[in-house]
Amino acid sequence: MPPGAIVCRSLWKIFEAGPSRVTALKDVTLNIADGEFVTLVGASGCGKSTLLRTLAGLEEPSAGELEVGGIPVTGPGVDRAMVFQNYSLYPWLTVTGNIKFTRQLTAHTRDRTSADVERAAGRADALLELMGLKAVAGAYPNQLSGGMQQRVAIARALMSRPRILLMDEPFGALDAQTREVMHDLILHVSELEQSTVVFVTHDVEEAIYLGRRVVLMAPRPGRIDSVYEVPLPARREQAMKLSSGFVRLKAAILKRIRETSGLKTDLELLQKLSQRAAS
Ligand SMILES: Nc1ncnc2c1ncn2[C@@H]1O[C@H](COP(=O)(O)OP(=O)(O)OP(=O)(O)O)[C@@H](O)[C@H]1O
Ligand SMILES: [Mg+2]
Repeated sequence: MPPGAIVCRSLWKIFEAGPSRVTALKDVTLNIADGEFVTLVGASGCGKSTLLRTLAGLEEPSAGELEVGGIPVTGPGVDRAMVFQNYSLYPWLTVTGNIKFTRQLTAHTRDRTSADVERAAGRADALLELMGLKAVAGAYPNQLSGGMQQRVAIARALMSRPRILLMDEPFGALDAQTREVMHDLILHVSELEQSTVVFVTHDVEEAIYLGRRVVLMAPRPGRIDSVYEVPLPARREQAMKLSSGFVRLKAAILKRIRETSGLKTDLELLQKLSQRAAS
């Protein structure tokens, strides 16, 4: 099986906290092809982050099987890298330092030759160029905009040449214009690196624009509700967001998210929230 392919077979994750039990993942079966870009959407608490953390090897499934490249996942590995919403950069390191740091952590010092160091420096340089960070290579994270910090975090994740990028609402904190730039950048980068990407978002438009497939999860218990093929050409362009196929799919997914969260309209959600606030 190709190294970037993911197979989940009847995955369950049950959190036990004292007497209470939360079924965060119920019988999740999902195959993701090598090099595929899949997005996960769904109401809050439906298990998106839990599924991503399980793929990363940070959570152990309660039952079921998980394989990456045909090999059972038993923990984190350099073949999989995570990117989070809060950029989690090291404030005391420059942009270049942040990008190289992961490599220094994963490579065993005594095994490193000068050729390794040179290769790593070359890779860091190429990533700086690719992510448009050359001009700020010597800057510190607090001197950068949110969009730039997230580009550093992505470059750092790519440093070890992971086959799989796992992204948990990575652009959630960015403004709309910066997000659009980041969308085209991540599509370009994932194509160049031939990475498999699993991308969690609350934003249905983002999910459709980026994903070849959109996986919709539902809460209580967390499970896969439906999977949508995105009817757009592989090479995306912003203008496609106005196409009838895009608009129709967006409406269908939003409707299904409302249905699966037990609320038919946003107004109902607001009423429920205000009732809760008043009681
Ligand atoms: N470590 C944990 N211990 C106990 N319960 C947990 C733990 N992590 C997650 N849960 C529960 O599992 C369920 C799924 O959580 P998860 O964070 O995966 O949802 P999510 O879809 O990512 O939500 P959001 O969109 O709000 O980020 C929730 O009910 C959550 O409270
Ligand atoms: Mg989450």
